[in-house]
Order: sequence, then structure tokens, then C-alpha cells
Amino acid sequence: MSAQARVQRTTTATLKARKGGEPIVSLTAYDAPTAALLDPHCDFLLVGDSVGMVVHGLPSTVGVTLDMMIMHGQAVMRGAKNAMVIVDLPFGSYEASPQLAFESASRVMQETGCAAVKIESGVYAADTVRFLVERSIPVMAHVGLRPQAVNVDGGFKAKGRSEKEREKVLAEARSADEAGAFAMVVEGVDEALAEEVTQAVSVPTIGIGASAACDGQILVTPDMLGQFDWAPKFVRRYADLKAVFGEAAARYAADVRARTFPGDAEVYRVKREG
Ligand code: KIV
Repeated sequence: MSAQARVQRTTTATLKARKGGEPIVSLTAYDAPTAALLDPHCDFLLVGDSVGMVVHGLPSTVGVTLDMMIMHGQAVMRGAKNAMVIVDLPFGSYEASPQLAFESASRVMQETGCAAVKIESGVYAADTVRFLVERSIPVMAHVGLRPQAVNVDGGFKAKGRSEKEREKVLAEARSADEAGAFAMVVEGVDEALAEEVTQAVSVPTIGIGASAACDGQILVTPDMLGQFDWAPKFVRRYADLKAVFGEAAARYAADVRARTFPGDAEVYRVKREG
């Protein structure tokens, strides 16, 4: 048996069993070394399509492709040893039909080895969730603020401002639950609504800009590490990576300009062989 086959990762069953129990911890990851650092602390790592914005500098997640997700998914799988790895299906790779979703999701699972996919699931997507689950593809749903819908929503605004919006988010959550999603991300919703969703569904809710009452939490890792000047209101910064990067780069630049780098210990002095 190969070393890879022996790895005991968190599974969809263990995550589901955490409904109402010990909070589920998750972060996004996009590369192998970061995944290795986060792995001991997380139940699952999400290869989010936020990669488009926080790694590739795109203005939204709409420009992210299936090939990008597969490449980052493979890298994260190489770095994570115990956490379950879930990969986002990007915009355009699943909405048109359940069949298209199956083609994209099966490619993601076969080419990365991840355990599940996540889709931004409006009520219309319930048939797709059911189609995938019936065909052995575990699905994490994503309700509330759906970043791939930015162009129809007209921005990244928190949901739950009207009774109609509240009912829509609840309907998204209930339909994904009934269709067989094993968990769902609840993003950018009024706190009370996030609690209501958590009580209304049978599977764990993973909050981001939602509520501490959710069954778990996720943040976009570069945001929580403080890599950017701006982050959404719901982000708590646990480091100041922007300052660390800036300070290190400035010291390096000064050393190069002063010719104090490389120093004696940082050069090769090889013995001539001939
Ligand atoms: O793409 C992503 O990183 C996500 C999280 C915000 C949940 O979907």
C-alpha cells in the first residue's frame, strides 16, 4: 500500500457527525507549503476560487477556470496530510446542467485526489447537488453571499436585508440539505439568519461573515494573515504578513545595495579539481 493510500484524512462522515458539536475549523489553501502549515490545525482545507483574487490578482472569482482549480488542488493535496481537501467548482463549470457539473467535478476529483467539491448553490442548483451525490461526488454547498453572482448582485453585499432575501437564503440552504449536500458554507449573511439556517438544516454550516453559532468557521487565509491593506469586516487578522513581507524585502534590498549580501557564509568557495 502506498504512503498516500495510508493517510487517514477527515472524511465527510466525520464532518457531518460534528453538527451541533465541536466547531469545525477550516481555512483556504492554494499551494503545498501553506497547506502543510495549516494542515495540523484544520479539519478541512478549501481550495477556494478566491485563489483568483488573492493569488492571481483578479477583480472577482468569475475569471477562475477549472484548470486553475485543478492545479491548485493538486498542490494542496501534496501539502495536506490529515485535513480533508475540498475544491471549488469555478464559475461556468457547473451551472449549465447537472451533466456538465458531473464532468467538471469528476475531473477535479480524479486529477487532484480531493475528497469533495463545493458549489455556490442557489435553489436552482439543488438538482445538480442531487445528481452529483447520487453519482458518488460529495458536495459542500455555499449559500448566502455567492461571490460568483457578483455581476447580478451588483457587489459583495451581506444578505438578509429583507424578508424576501431571508426566505431566499433559507430556501437555498434547505434545498441543498434535502438534495444531499454534506455541509454548507454560509457566507455574508445577517447573524440571526445564519443561526436560523444552522438550526434549519441537518448538516454542518460553515460560517464566513455569518455567526459564531454556525457549526464551524472558515476564513480566506491571506486575509486572516493580514496580507492585504483591505479585508472584509468579518475578517479577524491573526498576523500582519504585509508588514513582515515589506520589512523583509526592504532589509534584503538594503543589503544588496550595500553589497553586504551575500556574506561569507552565503557563498560557495569550491576547491579546484584540476
Ligand atoms: O472561494 C473561497 O475561498 C470560498 C470561501 C470564502 C468560503 O468560497
